[in-house]
Formats: sequence, C-alpha cells, structure tokens
Amino acid sequence: MQPANSKIIDYHSRHQPFFENVYRDWFTNHFGVPTEPIDDFVLTQPEKAILEMNGAILVATCEDQPAGFVALKKVDPSTFELTKMAVHPSHRGKGLGETLCRAALDRAEALGATRVILYSHNSLEAALHLYRKIGFTEVPLEKGLYSDFRCDTKMEHRIATRATVRGISPSPDDLKSGSNLDPADWEELRQLGHRMLDDMMNYLQTVRERPAWRPLPDGTVNALRQPLPQSPQDAQSVYEDFVTHVLPYNKNNIHPRFWSWVEGGGTPFGMLADMLASGMNPNLAIGDHAPVYVERQVLDWCKDIFGFPRDAGGALTSGASMANITALIVARNQIPDIKEKGLRAAAGQPLIYGSSETHNCVVKGAAVIGIGAGNFRQVPVDSDYRIRIDVLKEMIRDDRAAGDLPFCIVGNAGTVNTGAIDDLAALGEIARAEHLWFHVDGAFGAVPILLAEYDATLRCVASADSLSFDFHKWFYMNYEAGAILIRDAAAHRNAFSSPVSYLAAHERGLAGGPEPLSNFTMELSRGFRALKVWMLLKQNGIRKYEAQVRLNIRQAQYLAERVTELPELELMAPVPLNIVCYRYNPGGLDDKSLNALNKELLQRLQEQGIATPSYTVLNSRYTIRVAITNHRSTWKDFDTLIEASVRLGQQIHREKS
Ligand SMILES: Cc1ncc(COP(=O)(O)O)c(C=O)c1O
Repeated sequence: MQPANSKIIDYHSRHQPFFENVYRDWFTNHFGVPTEPIDDFVLTQPEKAILEMNGAILVATCEDQPAGFVALKKVDPSTFELTKMAVHPSHRGKGLGETLCRAALDRAEALGATRVILYSHNSLEAALHLYRKIGFTEVPLEKGLYSDFRCDTKMEHRIATRATVRGISPSPDDLKSGSNLDPADWEELRQLGHRMLDDMMNYLQTVRERPAWRPLPDGTVNALRQPLPQSPQDAQSVYEDFVTHVLPYNKNNIHPRFWSWVEGGGTPFGMLADMLASGMNPNLAIGDHAPVYVERQVLDWCKDIFGFPRDAGGALTSGASMANITALIVARNQIPDIKEKGLRAAAGQPLIYGSSETHNCVVKGAAVIGIGAGNFRQVPVDSDYRIRIDVLKEMIRDDRAAGDLPFCIVGNAGTVNTGAIDDLAALGEIARAEHLWFHVDGAFGAVPILLAEYDATLRCVASADSLSFDFHKWFYMNYEAGAILIRDAAAHRNAFSSPVSYLAAHERGLAGGPEPLSNFTMELSRGFRALKVWMLLKQNGIRKYEAQVRLNIRQAQYLAERVTELPELELMAPVPLNIVCYRYNPGGLDDKSLNALNKELLQRLQEQGIATPSYTVLNSRYTIRVAITNHRSTWKDFDTLIEASVRLGQQIHREKS
C-alpha cells in the first residue's frame, strides 16, 4: 500500500541534487567506496543517460518534498533496467521502496517492456526480499557491467502477458523463447521426455525385482522439505531430483505383492493414456469437444456393465468416496425443498441406513452434506459381516415412529474389511416398500458382476437408484478414476445444475454440444480421466477384466486354504470375494498379546520389503488383511506371504516369550 501523503511523480531537473546526493550517500555508506563511473553518468546526466533514451525516473514525494526515486533505463525495446533506487534515510521503513518499484513496473509496462531486469548484491537482503515479493526472480548474471563487490545478483520480472493483454506486440526476443512456460529448447525437452518414458517403462517392467516397500531415509525426507523455489531450475535437473528422491520411495501399489487397503496397480498403457490426457489438458466441465464425448461414451459402457438404462445419469469422479457423496446428495435432495431451503425444509431428522461395515467415506459423506455423521444409522451385521435385514426393518420402523425421516439405504457390494456382500435384493425391496433411496457402494465389489458365478449375488445392483464404483481398484486402472451412476438422470441433474449466464450451453460453437458434465457434479474443473478408462477398456476388452478378476478371487480362495491348512495361522473371516483376513496364532496367547504380535508381524513384512498387506480389527482382534485387486500377483506370491508370515510369527513369538 502506498504510504499516506506520498505521491509518485516524474523526475524534474529540480530533483537533480536530491537524486544525486541521496544515492551517493547510500552507496558510500553501504559499500564503503565511492560510486563508479557507470553510476556517475546516470547521476550527473540523468537526461542523457535515462530520459533521452526513452527511460524514466520516478520520484516519490512526501508532503510534496522528494523522498526517494527509482530509474528505468532502457536496455532494448522490450527490456528496461530498474536502477538507482534509493529512499532518503528520514523516509525509510514506510514502504516507499515497494511503492516505487511497483510504480516502476507499471511504467515499464506502459513503455512497452516485457521484461524488467535489475542488478543487486546479496548484502542487500531487505531489497532482495522486496524484489522477490513483487515478482522478480534470479537469473544468471553476466559479468562486467558492474564491479563484483557491488553486484552478484541479477533478477528479472516478466510482464509479457500484461503487455500482450493490452495489445502491445511482443518483442522478437519473447517470441524466440522463455517468455512463457513452454520449453526454450523443444528438442532438449523432447529428448528428456523420451528418457523419462524409457525410465518409467523399465521401472514398471522390473517392479518385481524391487522390495515390496522401502522406508524413506532421513536424507530423502529432508530433500522433500525445501523452501519454495524462486528461480528457474532446468528440467533435466528437476527430473534428476525426482529420480533420486521420489521414484525409489513409491507407495508401490504397483508391486505384485501389494495387497493393502483396496488399491489397484495401474498399467503401462494407462500411464501413457494419462500422458495423452495431460498433453491435451482439456477441462471437461462444458463445451463441444471430443473429450466430453469420450466421457459420455465411458459412462454408457458403465451402464451396460452394471445393467443401468442408457438414459441414466452418471459422472466420472476421483474415486468411490466422491461417487458416494454424489449419490447421497442426490438422495437427500429427494426430500422436498431441501435444495433451496436446506435441511430445515425436512419434516424430521433425515436418516441414512447401512451396515456397521459400511465404508467410512459414507459416514464422512453424511457429515459433509449436513445430515450429520450420527444420523448414519449403523445396522449390525451377521457372522458373515452382512447387514441384518431384520434389525434394519425394526430400526426404520422405530425411527419413523419417533418422528425421524429415513431417506436412504446404503447397501454394500463388497465391504472394505472382508468383502462381504449385503443381501442387495432384500435391501432393494425394503427401499421400494419404504420409499427410500437405495444406493449401492460397489467400490470394488460390484465389479465381479462380470462373472457368471456372481450374477445371482450382484444382479440386483442394476435395480439400485445409484451405484458407485472405481476403475482404479478392481479394473486395475491408474489413479484416479471412479464413477457414479444414477438411474434418474433428472434427479441427478437437479442436484447439481445451477444455471448461470457464463455457463449457459449454446446452439453452436465451443459452448454447444452435449449437456455440460458440470450439471452432474460439484466439480467445475474436471480433468480428462475418461481417456485412460476409454483406452484401457478398448485395449483389454471386458472379457480380459472378467478373467483377471476371477483369477484374483481364486487367489484369495487359495490363500484362505493355505491359512486354514497351517495350524499356526488362523482365518479370521469368510472370504466371499478377494479379501483374506488372517492372523498368526501359535496357541496359548490371549487376544491382547496376539494383537501386538500380529501388528509387529505386519510391520516386519512391510519393512523387510517382503509384501504389503494391510490390517483391520474384527471383533477386537487385530488381523492381517490381504485385499487382492492386483493383476501382477502370481500364485507363488501368496506362498511367499504364507512362508514369511509363519517364519516371522515364530521369530516374534520367540522374542516375546
Ligand atoms: C467399499 C469401499 N467404498 C468406498 C471406498 C472409497 O473409495 P476411494 O478410495 O476410491 O474414494 C473404498 C476404498 O477402499 C471401499 O473399499
């Protein structure tokens, strides 16, 4: 902000003594030597040195008295040097320096500059701080213009965009290179890009040869805690930083023995698709362009896979969490007037029902959309971790009698803990009878609908009001890609469309084409995640996914069998899908000791790079949990896990006893 009572005016010859003396005093005080000839020329003959060369000198006045100044020396038609800035000692500390610099930048722009440079010295810390603050960055310093003792830093400020906006032609220098963020040397970046591609292909091809996980060394953690970069770094060395500090310490969900949480490993072709999407870089919110048609095509294929009608609504999302929240919002908006008036419009407390095994993102979603986490009614499960239908019915009846407003049932097609599939047919019937929205969270567990043997169990997802699922889990696609399908497209649209003039669809032109996808999600910025889904579904065909998913289910059954065969291992839950929960249990230990032992066992499995299962707690018992959405796992990988679990279990047990 400009200090009170100060003004910026143009230099007049009456300012000459002030201009000269203040700068000389400052220079001598700071560097301990007199000014150099290059300074003397500017200070004694400012007209000749600056003004007649189409430069400018700006003077800051306080109470109409000169208080400081800055000069803009023309270097070439598009470059000005900001020089001779000084503020009289009695006016320092009031922000005049910043005011002068900003005024000089504005003036430089008005004079046609696309670049302002300055020379300074690292002993002038406050000045350097100010220059950075207003957008100067360090650039390589050419020698010889000023003496080394007073000049070791060169900085520049690019104002090409502002100039272009005002219709001022860019200089030939800017057109050549470096005036925007594209490479100055395309060939050089192309070669680096080829190297990156080769490196990543090798990285993926050799993934099995590396440990399943490795902890980050302190040096790496420190290297990833650096201050904000101020000056440009060449792409090659930025890439070297990535290769050294980032790549080796991946989460490694690409590894054949990664079975944590529920995470897919992606594919090399998916990586390439992401590169293409990023290169095109479209925003899919609105507009008539091919990427929008690709997402619509993908959504139509999703409807075919899960048996939804082609006129259903839908959207790709970052994952199942966002898909679930999207469904909850649409479901909530079936309560009359709620979209306009908010929750006060509800005739009672709106309630959502789902089993106690429902994924936490649904509970979070209830909180986020204003229903309240506590109003997600957790229905108990049976011994197979499936929702108790009898208890659900009672809860709905009791809640209604108490004046509450049940509005939604969430069914699980594959719970995160054990892969349990709720009785979806029964849930659908209750929802219809009670006039409730029926949503299915099928994040990963809806995908086996591809398999004839799961048809009877999963067919009912097709009758849900909404279904969420992920491509990055059991379709093995690269992060991020999830989806929501909503049977009633109008209900879906009503929840998210919010007409404004700047987003109105047109009959023709870029704003023409199909209905904006932003009418169906909260996000106005939507990347081209649809491309990898489209390319991978085409590359593999749905039958390949069917075979791969079936293989994972068989691998889970194999693992469960091996666990059951071995007396020291204990299977902790049924295995209806692809999740196996087990623990090491040599006998004679209580649950508390077994919990500690198995937690230690899991950590050693991970730290020794053997395998990366995860964990959960079932009925207060800590269990090792293997979730198989991995297209790289072989049968032998599960033998490795079993062998290591027994060996490490014995070792820890020995150490503890
Ligand atoms: C059953 C279930 N629902 C929802 C989610 C959340 O999915 P996302 O991580 O894609 O948001 C998960 C994640 O594992 C899940 O297992």
